[in-house]
Amino acid sequence: MVMGRKIQSLSLSHVLVAMLAFSHLAVALAAQKHLRFGPNGKFKILQVADMHFGDGKVTPCLNVLPTQMHTCSDVNTTVFIDRMIRAEKPDLIVFTGDNIFGFDATDAAKSLSAAFAPAISSNIPWAAILGNHDQESTLSREGVMKHIVGLKNTLSQVNPADAHVIDGFGNYNLEISGVKGSSYQNKSVLNLYFLDSGDYSTVPSIPGYGWVKPSQQFWFQRTSANLRRAYVSQPVPHKEPAPGLVYFHIPLPEFASFDSSNFTGVKQEGISSASVNSGFFTTMVEAGDVKAVFTGHDHLNDFCGQLTDIQLCYGGGFGYHAYGKAGWSRRARVVVASLEKTEKGDWGAVKSIKTWKRLDNHLLTAIDGQALWSKSPAGGRRKKQVGGA
Ligand SMILES: *[C@@H]1O[C@H](CO)[C@@H](O)[C@H](O)[C@H]1NC(C)=O
Ligand SMILES: *[C@@H]1O[C@H](CO)[C@@H](O)[C@H](O)[C@H]1NC(C)=O
Ligand SMILES: *[C@@H]1O[C@H](CO)[C@@H](O)[C@H](O)[C@H]1NC(C)=O
Repeated sequence: MVMGRKIQSLSLSHVLVAMLAFSHLAVALAAQKHLRFGPNGKFKILQVADMHFGDGKVTPCLNVLPTQMHTCSDVNTTVFIDRMIRAEKPDLIVFTGDNIFGFDATDAAKSLSAAFAPAISSNIPWAAILGNHDQESTLSREGVMKHIVGLKNTLSQVNPADAHVIDGFGNYNLEISGVKGSSYQNKSVLNLYFLDSGDYSTVPSIPGYGWVKPSQQFWFQRTSANLRRAYVSQPVPHKEPAPGLVYFHIPLPEFASFDSSNFTGVKQEGISSASVNSGFFTTMVEAGDVKAVFTGHDHLNDFCGQLTDIQLCYGGGFGYHAYGKAGWSRRARVVVASLEKTEKGDWGAVKSIKTWKRLDNHLLTAIDGQALWSKSPAGGRRKKQVGGA
């Protein structure tokens, strides 16, 4: 109301000037936030799962060796992120929830700022979503997400502008364009989706953890369909959508589909998914673009296993104030997408997606390198299903 009266009192030209200035600002902000593949044809993402940050140097570590106890605090978590950033030089850092352990953070805003400080000072773009512990301090889930989006260099969003009603806080997507100067420079060749998998069930008859709700799945479906439409059209039409990667905190029940014969990594505890199946796995399979899902939550599991065409991956426990296993290194997951060369010799679409983990030891040892996905050869067709009644 107040706004309306103010605008009425301004001349039309004033309004136009103001609108132009605002749109320039919006364009400048968008440009600053634009992700694209580098001139080496690669895009690297560092996943940091479950920092469980508390109050910094006064917050002790959990499950380290007795001899390590007296020298160990949240500072070790900070040092580990710093070392990972310097070793891997990622293009994006993704924090998959339980960024802070709210019960032991006196001031949520302070704890969040300290937890993300290494990402902020690296000047590398970063994105974060919520776990089930982020809201246990002085801020609500909405408050935590609002604080995060105000921090420097983050691409996090509270929720997408085009979703009027959506459950949770921290549902958004990021597009990564092809190499500047190539025919893919205006196309998103790799899509990232971030979702809030909630904290705990609010349905009295359903115990346990939260899940990705229908409103979020509708948004995901719509977004995936829009991205597919844009990708398969001119310039450089495609049959298949661009690959998508999905990040959220709580694993899906489908993470329990594997054993050591068909995953890479370890499973040292049960899969703490919601006690009901939200159907989000099926939604992703149907969408057709998702190649891999990355969660946290179970700190002692760090595997990737493939179910249908989707890789289900844990990040592996990162933080020192998070439960862990003494003598079993804290770790982080790295994902690299690589572009193919077109016939003309410039960079094209995504050719392959690989992953590995690094351990927090003296050498930051890399382990469990594996291919998550690779593009089927040009013109290649999926094998037709044989047999059946
Ligand atoms: C934590 O950091 C201290 C100081 O750098 C170091 O001495 C100690 O070994 C670290 N603890 C662990 C468990 O890595
Ligand atoms: C990409 O967009 C820019 C700016 O609109 C335009 O100048 C350029 O020709 C476009 N390139 C391709 C390959 O579509
Ligand atoms: C993994 O292997 C086990 C048997 O060792 C089998 O029961 C399970 O269905 C397999 N999972 C997948 C996703 O292939």
